[in-house]
Amino acid sequence: KKVVLAYSGGLDTSVIVPWLKENYGCEVVCFTADVGQGIKELEGLEQKAKASGASQLVVKDLTEEFVKDYIFPCLRAGAIYERKYLLGTSMARPVIAKAMVDVAAEVGADAVAHGCTGKGNDQVRFELTFFSLNPELKVVAPWREWEIQGREDAIEYAKKHNVPVPVTKKSIYSRDRNLWHLSHEGDILEDPANEPKKDMYMMSVDPEDAPDQPEYIEIGIESGIPVALNGKALSPATLLAELNTIGGKHGIGRIDMVENRLVGMKSRGVYETPGGTILFAAAQELESLTLDRESIQVKDLLALKYAEMVYAGRWFDPLRESMDAFMEKLTEKTTGSVTLKLYKGSVSVTGRRSPNSLYRQDISSFEGSEIYNQADAAGFIRLYGLPMRVRAMLEKGIDKI
Ligand code: ARG
Ligand code: SIN
Repeated sequence: KKVVLAYSGGLDTSVIVPWLKENYGCEVVCFTADVGQGIKELEGLEQKAKASGASQLVVKDLTEEFVKDYIFPCLRAGAIYERKYLLGTSMARPVIAKAMVDVAAEVGADAVAHGCTGKGNDQVRFELTFFSLNPELKVVAPWREWEIQGREDAIEYAKKHNVPVPVTKKSIYSRDRNLWHLSHEGDILEDPANEPKKDMYMMSVDPEDAPDQPEYIEIGIESGIPVALNGKALSPATLLAELNTIGGKHGIGRIDMVENRLVGMKSRGVYETPGGTILFAAAQELESLTLDRESIQVKDLLALKYAEMVYAGRWFDPLRESMDAFMEKLTEKTTGSVTLKLYKGSVSVTGRRSPNSLYRQDISSFEGSEIYNQADAAGFIRLYGLPMRVRAMLEKGIDKI
């Protein structure tokens, strides 16, 4: 019996290793995904995993795949959960879980395990991905089974099993970081009335401390997908990393919200998404040139459902995949560039251009136009307003006009 464990090297996942061996009598293969969370000591990690009792540590760099196949499709879809959340954690879970399914096949494991609690969204996202990609894998979620309640219990369990307790001081917040975002939950944030402390933030400066000079940048987009910064073509992960630096410097992309978790409870979270916030502004803006009124309306309706599915862990669901095909087709012609001004926490659009622009200055201009005949408007308005005229005639007892 062999299990692949989603492993971070922190106290919780370190304790899960001996716990799995003791309670399931299985060999434990640890798996760590690089999704741009900034893993500092990869070499130390293997020793650590082995010191906890793992037979091996498998590490995979998923950064480019994460940005290209998960983040950019959500961006193209305009997926935002409950008006604010740019889905940073939600998008990362399916890419990590998919890699775990692959690793399980590679090492011949019959089970997978994760360190998510029984109160959150992440357990659902991991397990729905396991179900969709390999329904035969057994799933173990120690937090839903064991007696360990808090940090003290975990340390005691580690000591009893001769597992070195990770020296890294645990933060008071529950955080999740990847290339797209950093989330903060817990501690003083648990009271939604409390303002987050200034020193909590890690990806962005306080807008009050941002440079007094605005910075202009240009984002190049091809078929709804960002491809360039200031005229320079960049790989998905490189582009996002550069925008995180620039956006963070200007205090962009801080979100403070109370959200509805899939398991029913409300929770308060604070998110930093500097590069992502810039990319959302750019991608949406370009659509104002390339999409017509009804396309934008239908796209926005579906975006809501798309975001809900991603939040709920239903990435590998034919409905999300079909909506993705719709988004891809609709944004086929969304190519061009957007100029943005970054200043003390705000992103404002200052210009947009596209070779496929539906905007025609010769039609819209206040100067005379050949294509648009103002006299046509009179008949259009009479017919467009016919139902209103009929109702008003009825109400006022008029039968002829
Ligand atoms: N509330 C967010 C979500 O459900 C962030 C969760 C952060 N996860 C974590 N393990 N700290 O997507
Ligand atoms: C967890 O409970 O494991 C993290 C929070 C969440 O999944 O929403």
